[in-house]
Amino acid sequence: MTDRIPFIAGNWKMNLNIDESVNLVNATLKGMRDLEDVDVLIAPPFTALSAVKQATGKSRILLAAQNMYSETSGAYTGEISGKMLREAGCTHVILGHSERRSLFKETNEMIDLKVRAAVALGFIPIVCIGESLEEREAGTTFEVLRNQLEGSLRNFIKEQFMPYDTILAYEPVWAIGTGLTATPGQAQEVHKFIREWVGKGFDSETADRVRILYGGSVKPDNISDLMSEEDIDGALVGGASLKADSFVQLIRFKEK
Ligand code: 13P
Repeated sequence: MTDRIPFIAGNWKMNLNIDESVNLVNATLKGMRDLEDVDVLIAPPFTALSAVKQATGKSRILLAAQNMYSETSGAYTGEISGKMLREAGCTHVILGHSERRSLFKETNEMIDLKVRAAVALGFIPIVCIGESLEEREAGTTFEVLRNQLEGSLRNFIKEQFMPYDTILAYEPVWAIGTGLTATPGQAQEVHKFIREWVGKGFDSETADRVRILYGGSVKPDNISDLMSEEDIDGALVGGASLKADSFVQLIRFKEK
């Protein structure tokens, strides 16, 4: 089995101005000294990307956008293209976050187009899926997740190819920003399901290499238990990524 390098990502959502963003990056960089064998990524708001990129310099912090549009240019008022994000220094892009799906009515079809465009431009997509509380309580979690995977990754399925560096993120909607975390067992059950889905749809090598992150109220006091599960390769963190103190504790989870 491949040793998958842990991947800790901070999704800042619609928070922090440019100064606050740069301060947070600088403090994170300080806290990352001598850190080994963990990939660290941050996804600031669009307006802070360039300044953050400058602050990260040649460090190991990876930069992601929180969204992008599927077209590369043109009359799409209010949208941001992958080309623009590449220019701003992003290598990764979060797609299909549950807030995009629910608040902005993004469908699997739209997400699939974005994933396709992102990969064509050389981005590594971080594709999010997750069930709502009603869906979990109705016992439809796996059906919902399968539909999201099949719909959002339609192009990969058509091409019969998923790049090894693709990142999938399981974020149960009921655990996002609520303080409720899936238990490590609940999360592992879903991550295993996702890895098996990748194995069946593509091949065992892809399933072995693709990293699957957990997101939803990840905090310094619960990350170690989550990360000790076999199929949990990292975390996609919202609230706790907004303070250097907690984010540094998260990326240094191995030392806890
Ligand atoms: P919280 O960590 O604030 O629950 O947010 C999770 C999330 O949505 C990350 O993308």
